[in-house]
Amino acid sequence: MLGNVAQVDTISQPAAVLDPEQHRESTPIERPWWRNAVVYQVYVRSFADRNGDGIGDLAGVRSQLPYLRDLGVDALWFNPWYPSPLADNGYDIVDYRAIDPAFGTLEEAEQLIAEARELEIRTIVDVVPNHVSSEHPWFREALAAAPGSFERDRFWFRSGRGEDGAQPPNGWQSIFGGPAWTRVEDGEWYLHLFAPEQPDLNWTHADVWAEHEDVLRFWFDRGVAGVRIDSAALLVKDPALAEEPSDPGPGQHPFMDRDELHEIYRRWRAIADGYADPRVLVGEIWLADAERLARYLRPDELHTAFNFDFLACPWAPAPLRASIESALAAHEPVDAPTTWVLSNHDVTRPVTRYGRADTSFSFEGRRAGTPTDLARGTRRARAAALLSMALPGSLYVYQGEELGLPEVEDIPAERRHDPMWLRSGGLDPGRDGCRVPLPWAGSRPPYGFSAAGTTTPWLEQPGDWGPLTVEAQSGAPESMLELYRAGLHARRSAPWGDGAELEWQPSIPDVLAFRRGERFVCLVNFGPDPVKLPAGADVLIASNELEGGAVPHDTTVWLRQAEVRPARPSRTETSNDSGQGKEGR
Ligand code: GLC
Ligand code: CA
Repeated sequence: MLGNVAQVDTISQPAAVLDPEQHRESTPIERPWWRNAVVYQVYVRSFADRNGDGIGDLAGVRSQLPYLRDLGVDALWFNPWYPSPLADNGYDIVDYRAIDPAFGTLEEAEQLIAEARELEIRTIVDVVPNHVSSEHPWFREALAAAPGSFERDRFWFRSGRGEDGAQPPNGWQSIFGGPAWTRVEDGEWYLHLFAPEQPDLNWTHADVWAEHEDVLRFWFDRGVAGVRIDSAALLVKDPALAEEPSDPGPGQHPFMDRDELHEIYRRWRAIADGYADPRVLVGEIWLADAERLARYLRPDELHTAFNFDFLACPWAPAPLRASIESALAAHEPVDAPTTWVLSNHDVTRPVTRYGRADTSFSFEGRRAGTPTDLARGTRRARAAALLSMALPGSLYVYQGEELGLPEVEDIPAERRHDPMWLRSGGLDPGRDGCRVPLPWAGSRPPYGFSAAGTTTPWLEQPGDWGPLTVEAQSGAPESMLELYRAGLHARRSAPWGDGAELEWQPSIPDVLAFRRGERFVCLVNFGPDPVKLPAGADVLIASNELEGGAVPHDTTVWLRQAEVRPARPSRTETSNDSGQGKEGR
């Protein structure tokens, strides 16, 4: 029975049966905001440039706050906006209590935080506790001080091995490639898990604890709603500097996910909870083990963590279902909401990733020049967006994701900035391609990112982004931007009712379908053949036009079932248990 879809079966009327405004008034907010927030990630350098120097700035963000409000986001997460020599695009910080002059001033940041709040948008700032810039006063002091000094002890200075200590203290490798140690003039070596310009702090040193707790208070006192904690599972190192075992047990790795970390985050949580409007801690934690990840989300630790398993998952029903199930199952015992993340400033843009033969993401696996079909990738990214918006928990949107920007893969070598590219000799394509400045309007670069006729943006934009600008997509019913706007507004109206849990529905292997609440169903068709809608279902929104009332390939629909069901079946009554979703079609 495909009857009921006729009035609302295309994306040109995506949310026709919903009235978010009405719903907002009638639904009191019972749970803390962050449990189901939509957080928009602002990479300031590439968002909007108001003074025409080719670098995005806070004035640019302030001018586009109405755009963000209309998109329907609850919070902004700003990548590091602090003074930095830019060895790692701002993740090498010189002063944690100031704003990079290229972006603006501290007063302006305070204004921005307040203006956003007036639009009901909260602000989350990035903090980087694992390392500082090699230009940071502490590291300069350490270099000037003698081996064994108090100043050096804030970092990991050690003598080398071998004759004259010419070999690094151990074999740890930098996450950006090459040894994790660099030698200084007097012969000692210092540890850097990332670039040499990012020396690692020693988290057994009391100064390091005190300083970071003070930095948290500094920003919380300025009205930020929370922090995103960079490399949150790396801070603590094995003081014996043991070599990396090939298959470390839980908590056994010498610099990842060590048990002592939890004590740091308990302290931070107490600080965050000390505010009348408690602040929120979000961890950047890349861990394959969902249970180990959830340990950081115990009620007295972090509030949420990025769900990178979902981001890295191939576009295929069985792995996606497994990923969703494992995330929900691991978060449940600690009563933390899951997050749903499709992209960020470190990973290949979804429309490019999903257009490839291998749709999964890994840092090790990505290679420049891997062929992609952008039309297919875009179609899947649309379906993935609506899927992620329908899942229970909070959602992250990385700037440009809502425009369907592709990864820019042909940036000339001399214009690249990313140490991942530089340190791998170009083998790793790096992350510049997902950091290209946003196209706002017009048919030529800089597409309104900077005022026309000013300098070229810090990373050049492609010549064919005219159709991807905010201007070009606004009001175009089939655009990615309108899908995000409609999807986020529909999500805000909570068509599933009150925080309802997910319950899988019987379906063929090519389909994922789940119910939330009494009448809401989200259905994704991954297979080549159109799938009939369940009898008596209204389509609330669809990621692509339906075909004769059926859901075509790589399409997500949100449905409202006609009738309230008499009873809830048990959660085990599912369909895909045979799990033979086809991958990599
Ligand atoms: C995090 C950031 C990344 C940065 C790294 C080192 O993974 O997301 O951009 O390069 O930490 O700070
Ligand atoms: Ca600027």
